Amino acid sequence: MIYGRRRGRKLRPAQAGLMATLLPRLHVAVPDSGTLDPFSLFPSQIRRFALEIGFGAGEHLAAQAASHRDTGFIGVEIFETGIAKLLTAIAAQDLANIRILIDDARLLLAALPDRCLDAAYILFPDPWPKLRHRKRRIVSPATLAQLARAMRDGAELRLASDDPDYQSAMLGDVTAASEWEWLARRADDWRTRPADWPATRYEHKALAAGRTPIYLRFKRRSR
Ligand SMILES: C[S@@+](CC[C@H](N)C(=O)[O-])C[C@H]1O[C@@H](n2cnc3c(N)ncnc32)[C@H](O)[C@@H]1O
Repeated sequence: MIYGRRRGRKLRPAQAGLMATLLPRLHVAVPDSGTLDPFSLFPSQIRRFALEIGFGAGEHLAAQAASHRDTGFIGVEIFETGIAKLLTAIAAQDLANIRILIDDARLLLAALPDRCLDAAYILFPDPWPKLRHRKRRIVSPATLAQLARAMRDGAELRLASDDPDYQSAMLGDVTAASEWEWLARRADDWRTRPADWPATRYEHKALAAGRTPIYLRFKRRSR
């Protein structure tokens, strides 16, 4: 399923201004055919790349980009209010290492070259709880296969969810695939968010509602 851009609440004038002026400079277009090389999106000194799928309001993406200014981050989101919030953080913190795709992340995954990503994040993806909608979940064997192809050996994939069914489905899908090593050694490793993993809006909402998130870290095994 391919999604179009989703409008949320009306943007504030400052946000609308950033959508008109900053977004065109950071916006990424996926070519209809062929590959999208991350090296072409960032200045030449940037040689490490990370992807965040469904960045929401962008808190995690902005914090990671601020702590790793030598890494180019591609954020994918279709929710306009969230994109405007990320643009506000980019402008406030002068983050030169973020690019934004407003489309279905699967289009980008299909266009990325092999072995180009050093990290990927899919945090609190939409759970699609109804049985008939589960095929819409972004964390699936097909997405994981594309990530395994596009990620470098040793690259880290981070997944989080607060939905019990999605938690076991994503863990089952990753552990069934031979490309990934689960980095948890003890229960606290997946029950507690690591210090270098900034919180997101959906994590706060989940905790406030009494749900229990899990935080999964996987390493792309050597080919
Ligand atoms: C439940 S929200 C979580 C947002 C954020 N990661 C957080 O933790 O606060 C999931 C987000 O993924 C975005 N999304 C859903 N499907 C997507 C897709 N195929 N490609 C890119 N973004 C997607 C939605 O617009 C939504 O903002």
